[in-house]
Amino acid sequence: MSEIVVDKLTHTFGKGSPGALTVLEDIDLTFESGSFSSIVGTSGCGKSTLLKMMAGLFEPSDGQMTLDGDVIKGTSQRRGMVFQQDAVFPWMTVAKNISYGPRLRGVSREERTAIEKKWVEMVGLKGFEDRWPRELSGGMRKRVDIGRVYANDPDVLLMDEPFGALDAQTKERMQADLLQTWRQTQKTVVFVTHDLEEAIFLSDKVIVMSARPGRIRHIEEVSLPRPRTDEMRLTDEFIQIKRKLWGMLEH
Ligand SMILES: Nc1ncnc2c1ncn2[C@@H]1O[C@H](COP(=O)(O)OP(=O)(O)O)[C@@H](O)[C@H]1O
Ligand SMILES: [Mg+2]
Repeated sequence: MSEIVVDKLTHTFGKGSPGALTVLEDIDLTFESGSFSSIVGTSGCGKSTLLKMMAGLFEPSDGQMTLDGDVIKGTSQRRGMVFQQDAVFPWMTVAKNISYGPRLRGVSREERTAIEKKWVEMVGLKGFEDRWPRELSGGMRKRVDIGRVYANDPDVLLMDEPFGALDAQTKERMQADLLQTWRQTQKTVVFVTHDLEEAIFLSDKVIVMSARPGRIRHIEEVSLPRPRTDEMRLTDEFIQIKRKLWGMLEH
C-alpha cells in the first residue's frame, strides 16, 4: 500500500504578511496505491508547490497530506522526486550515480552492485555503467536520474516535468519506457506536466488545475487500455480527451 491523500489543503506563501500569496486552495485528492496520475495546469498554478509538499520539502499552511494515513512531514526515502533539471553528479559514473542513495544508507557493496545492475538495465543504460555524465545525451542523463530515484526503492515517485527539456522523439521513448518500469514496479506515480498529450498517454487519471490560486478544476479518468502504445495517441478516444481537457486549461 502507498496511497497519498490530500485533505482540504490550502497553501499561502508568507501567510499573515502583507505580501501573502495563496497558490493552492481547497485541494482534495487521492492518489491510489500503484496508480499513475498526472497534474496539468498553466504555469504558476501551483503544480510544483503541491508536488514539493508531497515530497515533504515544506508544509501546507492549511490542511494536510498523508501517505497511508501518516501525515507527510519532512523528506523521506519513501517519496522519491525527479525534477526537470537532472540531479546527476558529474563526478560519478552512471553506476555510482544510481547506487548513490543506497551507499549513503550504508548498503553493502555487494548489494549495491546488484542494485546498480538491476537499475542500469531497467532504465535502458546497459553498456553505459562506467560512462561519465558528460558523455551522455540529455535523455540518458534523465535515465540516470530516474534509475537513481528507483534505486532507493521508494513507494511513491514524484515527477515534476521530468521530460520537459527533451526533444519530442526522445520524450516519447522516455514515456514508453517509464510506463514499462512503472508496470514492473507498481509504485504510485504523481507526474506533473504542462503537456496534455504526455499526461493522457501516461495516466490513469489526469487532474486539471485552474490558474492561481490553483484549485482542482476537473479529474479525467483515462480508460485507454494498457499497455499503452504510441498508436493510441492517434485514436479518436485519445484526441477527444485531449480536446476536452485543452478547453479546460486557461491559456
Ligand atoms: N517559495 C516561494 N515563495 C513565494 N512564492 C512562491 C514560492 N514558490 C513558488 N511561489 C509562487 O507560487 C506560484 C506557484 O508556483 P509553482 O508551484 O512553481 O507553479 P507551477 O509549477 O504550476 O508553474 C507562483 O506564482 C510562484 O511564483
Ligand atoms: Mg512547476
